[in-house]
Amino acid sequence: MFARRIAVIGSGYVGLTTGACLASLGHRVVCADIDAAKIARLRRGEVDILEPGLPELVVENQVAGRLEFVVGAREAISRPDGQPVEVVFLCVPTPMGEGGAADLRAVQAVAAEIRHLLPSGCVVVNKSTVPVGTADATLRLLNRRDVAVVSNPEFLREGTAVHDFLHPDRIVVGCDAQDAAERVAALYSKLGAPTVLTDAASAEMVKYAANCFLAMKLSYVNALAELCDLLGADVGDVTEGMGYDKRIGQSFLKPGPGWGGSCLPKDTNALVQVAAAAGRELPLVSASIATNERQRALMVDKIRDAVGGDLAGRRIGLLGLTFKAGTDDLRDSPALGVAALLVAEGAELSGYDPGCPAAVPGVTDDVRVVDEPMLAAKDAAALVVLTEWPEFRSLDWSAIGGVMDNRTVVDTRNLLDPDILRRAGISWVGVGRR
Ligand code: UDX
Repeated sequence: MFARRIAVIGSGYVGLTTGACLASLGHRVVCADIDAAKIARLRRGEVDILEPGLPELVVENQVAGRLEFVVGAREAISRPDGQPVEVVFLCVPTPMGEGGAADLRAVQAVAAEIRHLLPSGCVVVNKSTVPVGTADATLRLLNRRDVAVVSNPEFLREGTAVHDFLHPDRIVVGCDAQDAAERVAALYSKLGAPTVLTDAASAEMVKYAANCFLAMKLSYVNALAELCDLLGADVGDVTEGMGYDKRIGQSFLKPGPGWGGSCLPKDTNALVQVAAAAGRELPLVSASIATNERQRALMVDKIRDAVGGDLAGRRIGLLGLTFKAGTDDLRDSPALGVAALLVAEGAELSGYDPGCPAAVPGVTDDVRVVDEPMLAAKDAAALVVLTEWPEFRSLDWSAIGGVMDNRTVVDTRNLLDPDILRRAGISWVGVGRR
């Protein structure tokens, strides 16, 4: 494998993981960000996102001289040693904009900034999730015949991003110029992953297609769980029975308070918008989004029932605020969605999350964040598990029951062992469980 000279523009979650992992594969990587304070911290080896293995990788590769951090895209591309950058990764945010469509202003701004700086023959790689056609649009913006734009979507899950990067299920690279796609695919050759080489539009589509499929799978499971509740079936047994079918698989079948995070909500909305722009509806995906919103309301119904039918003035304890376990990310967290609905009905909330210390301000106005599960449980009319942090399983449930006003736990993740709670004198309500 050739060690390539790579610039990564945007040192957020995706950019930093990409840069550090590419450096660990032997490439020379410069990561840039417009946030000078963040770059200063990264130079000191301080990583401000919770991602196992990433801080170690950042330090190791800086020490080995394969990874540098600079302020601004210009600095990353115009290298002082005069060696031309061969590949530029765009890893800037593409948040949900007006009406659910992806907001591409950051991609456009970087393209405008770097267009005159790119060395001839360089490849620009779009890693951000962008609508089909963005590679073409970026190429037009760059207006350079001697530069190719490649789509190479990331499939990194938060909390396991380093592992996912280094052990990918697949690599997808798309470009209308095949040689540029092959050059990008070669960056990953050490990983030995199945590689799909295709055109830019298809590569861009893969990311939406995969994330929307996952969201549909989860909404389907959540809808099944609701039916199980009504019909007296057990969703755990149902999904296990389904999952042994190899065409379905066991993963991504756990019901919960709905799916969230920085990707699935944004990407489902974006695909619906992309379809609308092409004059089509996408009812499967739209229904999955609607089912997901309803799921939060269904969880509130369960909590209201558990406290006797009225939430006004009731103290509710929350276990978990992040959108899933193993992260400190609160973006589009279903836990916070449920919290907002509870507050709208007059409940008073205290919440504990291992990823969100109480001292960090501005988590949410809806919840008083505390540093102990016991403090969340104190005087609560119900305690609600909203994120599947494994440590919640081994809490001292007798002690927790002892400080609650009403010994009831609503477990929206089916995380806890109902027998342990029963022995602690706590009544347990799950989702779709017998
Ligand atoms: C997702 C995709 O998995 C990843 O490939 C893509 O690159 C980015 O989006 P991430 O946002 O980190 O990754 O979260 P993921 O682990 O996929 O979970 C998404 C949501 O679904 C979370 O709210 C999670 O709690 C929920 N979920 C997941 C369930 O409710 N049940 C499950 O069985 C799995």
